[in-house]
Amino acid sequence: MSLQENKKRLVELGGNVTEMWLNEQIDWCVSQIEKNMQRFGTQFPSACATNGKYRIKANDDWTNGFWTGMLWLAYEWTKKDKFLALAMENIQSFQKRLDDHFVLDHHDIGFLYSLSAGAGFKITGNDQCKQEVLQAAEVLLARFQEQGEFIQAWGQKGDPKEYRLIIDSLINLPLLFEATEISGDTHYSEMAEKHYQTLMKTVIKADATTFHTYYFDPETGQPSHGATHQGHSDSSIWARGQSWAVLGIPLNESYLHSMPFPENYAQIVDVFLAHLPEDLIPYWDFDFTDQHPSDKDSSSLAIAACGLMEAEKLAAFPEAEMLAKGMVYQLGEHYSAKKLPENEGLLLHGVYAHAEGKGIDEPNLWGDYFYLEALIRLANPQWQRYW
Ligand code: GLY
Repeated sequence: MSLQENKKRLVELGGNVTEMWLNEQIDWCVSQIEKNMQRFGTQFPSACATNGKYRIKANDDWTNGFWTGMLWLAYEWTKKDKFLALAMENIQSFQKRLDDHFVLDHHDIGFLYSLSAGAGFKITGNDQCKQEVLQAAEVLLARFQEQGEFIQAWGQKGDPKEYRLIIDSLINLPLLFEATEISGDTHYSEMAEKHYQTLMKTVIKADATTFHTYYFDPETGQPSHGATHQGHSDSSIWARGQSWAVLGIPLNESYLHSMPFPENYAQIVDVFLAHLPEDLIPYWDFDFTDQHPSDKDSSSLAIAACGLMEAEKLAAFPEAEMLAKGMVYQLGEHYSAKKLPENEGLLLHGVYAHAEGKGIDEPNLWGDYFYLEALIRLANPQWQRYW
């Protein structure tokens, strides 16, 4: 399929999205979350499912915020106290994690805290949530490297083998912008902007495809080379990496208001759309095609749908909302776990880390979260995002 054909088909599919269809999907997602709550209690689901079941885990991964984010979405949709009560219990768990500095030596602090304390502050105005956002923002900022001007993705700060940034971090920067908005202290947003500018100059290639991570020389801070972590190869396009850019750029631009809007954004979206196969659900890496297939990563489409809805608000991509609707419709009709009562996910057929054999052809927490976020965005255009 060509880029133009994929766009045309998505826009046509988007025409099927009605208020009734959205309500049905959201109500089912909320009932699934309600069912899962009984099993997880105050613990958390694992990053990805195995045979459609999540393992019960502590608050110890980069993905725990997606669960709490789903609780907040379910609360906003239903106003049922049980969702609020559990989300607020989770907030205590996230506070303890900060106090113990438990598994926080990585860039994913925004995924954890925007969706837990950040959402909690936006929804309830609770002061503990606000303080947690500020404390978490400090943890993220502590990873900022002056040499190279970026937030180090993983590992011990300054480790020369880990002197790199990662495209996924685009979604962690809103935590810093939020910290500036609620405290008036601009050092958070200044560092976020520096990291964003460095990232845009390195992981985004001239042809608008993306590297997953990018290394710098620790001595000089000079950009060195791109490399993958979860993609098929260093030179391939990892589907989720491209979708993190589709979402992350308009999210950051909604704080930065760059003039002009990054000129390569439309091309970045086109790369994503051009690589959609016949059923419009991406393979986990764009090295794979219907002629040379592998596993699908539904989560990357859910992320891209949210990105296009942000792009629509900024008039950053033509027909963005209709394209997003088409994506969500295709996911809801063919990739939802609705027809599989034993499955605990919302969205089937995701991939976590293919080379490591992790979460292949399984639901994962971010796929579930972004699918529900996309549905809520469409059902309620006034919804205030947590990012
Ligand atoms: N941020 C890690 C992933 O997308 O799998």
